[in-house]
Amino acid sequence: MTSPWWRDAVVYEIYVRSFADASGDGVGDLPGVTGRLPYLAELGVDAVWLTPFYRSPMADGGYDVADYRDVDPSFGTLADFDALVTKAHELGLRVMIDIVPNHSSIEHPWFQEALRGVKRDRYLFRTETNNWQSVFGGPAWTRVADGSYYLHLFAPEQPDFNWRNPEVHAEFLDVLRFWLDRGVDGFRIDVANGLYKAEDLPDTTAGFVSGSPMSSRPEVHGVYREWRALVDGYPGERAFVGEVWTDTPEDLALYVRPDELHQSFNFAWLKAPWSADAFRAVIDKTLTEIAAPTWVLSNHDVVRHVTRYGEGSLTPSGGIDRAKAALLAMLALPGSAYLYQGEELGLPEVQEIPPDKRQDPTFFQTDGELPGRDGCRVPLPWSGSASPYGFGTGEPWLPQPSSWALLTAERQAADPASTLSFYKAALAWRRQIMAGDEIEWLAGPADTLFFRRGSVICVVNCGDVAVPLPEHKELVLATAPLVDDLLPPDGGAWLLA
Ligand code: GLC
Repeated sequence: MTSPWWRDAVVYEIYVRSFADASGDGVGDLPGVTGRLPYLAELGVDAVWLTPFYRSPMADGGYDVADYRDVDPSFGTLADFDALVTKAHELGLRVMIDIVPNHSSIEHPWFQEALRGVKRDRYLFRTETNNWQSVFGGPAWTRVADGSYYLHLFAPEQPDFNWRNPEVHAEFLDVLRFWLDRGVDGFRIDVANGLYKAEDLPDTTAGFVSGSPMSSRPEVHGVYREWRALVDGYPGERAFVGEVWTDTPEDLALYVRPDELHQSFNFAWLKAPWSADAFRAVIDKTLTEIAAPTWVLSNHDVVRHVTRYGEGSLTPSGGIDRAKAALLAMLALPGSAYLYQGEELGLPEVQEIPPDKRQDPTFFQTDGELPGRDGCRVPLPWSGSASPYGFGTGEPWLPQPSSWALLTAERQAADPASTLSFYKAALAWRRQIMAGDEIEWLAGPADTLFFRRGSVICVVNCGDVAVPLPEHKELVLATAPLVDDLLPPDGGAWLLA
């Protein structure tokens, strides 16, 4: 039996607002994505995940949905969506879309009814509040005209649904059907662990995940069993990947039981520091606990990993070298990998965004104390030597740095030594040489990862001295040219055993 496509897929996250703008309004859109799908096919990914493109007042960049069955005019139309799916499938790319079940927008018709006192039980209204804080900062409760409050774990414009109300279940099953019937191959589930809150909404003394309003509750698994049964009735191996934040891999494993989600993001990998011990611990835990492992280094919510890794490196190119080495590690591991748009160009986090250009609610709800997530959401540089770098014709919704002239996709495509060329080579090799569900650790010098999967040996040097390569027949790919068979600090390579 062949394994399902998602099990070892490389999925590319498209943050739609920042990928490509076909309409010229400075915001990315669906026709922009469609136009660039050939680039992604050539890059060598298997699937794309589109962040929310639904009707939305954009209080949280579209994660505040006003109509789950329509496309926001700023992103295009349902016909544009259909054209995107058709084109992707022609190119052999699967399409996953984001589903946002924890909360809607305040402009959703149900919330508008709730404000008028109609069917309030679809949300979490109370006459008294508790001490919960919003993930974006500030209280998680907002008062309405009649003096009662509604719960929002995120922005006040994102009221949380009441998943104890069966109508919410029925509605989401219908929304899933709507998109499955339009041909989507799967869904990324936003805040998948947060749907149920403790029944009596008790005060919390804990932080973001552990014991907090967001922490997993057993009831949530019933939702994913319902959803799984639904997609299993569709042809073509449709899949779910959950955005699940848990304290332990054991808890994460519950979400990917055979009758629940197919996959969940492995944030432990993303959170691990640049350290062979830390990486190895995450790899071991993941491979023992999780049936369908996944790997991810960046997404639209975190500081780009070139910048994260660069902070501890002794060399100016350390961030990029480490990012490339970490890519080799994750693409050599069993399971599937999620890439975030722009990492194939080696884009760093943009740290100097002026306050008046910032857009992320985190920045505003913390009075600027936290910069928020705009720095990883800056529109992509495609071509040319000045902003908007082929992103579109209008002024991009976030400013692009002048240093990005050196990082455009066009420029890198023509340079065999570029980060883009490295990603293409790694993805192409991966298809040819990676096989098997097991890895074997090889003895290596301190602060290195040396492991073997099938006929491939992957080596990564997290230390600060060059180390000799293990015995091998052939070098497949390395993050930098190797001298005397030595792997430099921050370097990585694939070898044939
Ligand atoms: C998820 C999304 C994030 C969004 C939040 C609220 O964590 O990835 O971007 O702000 O949910 O929907």
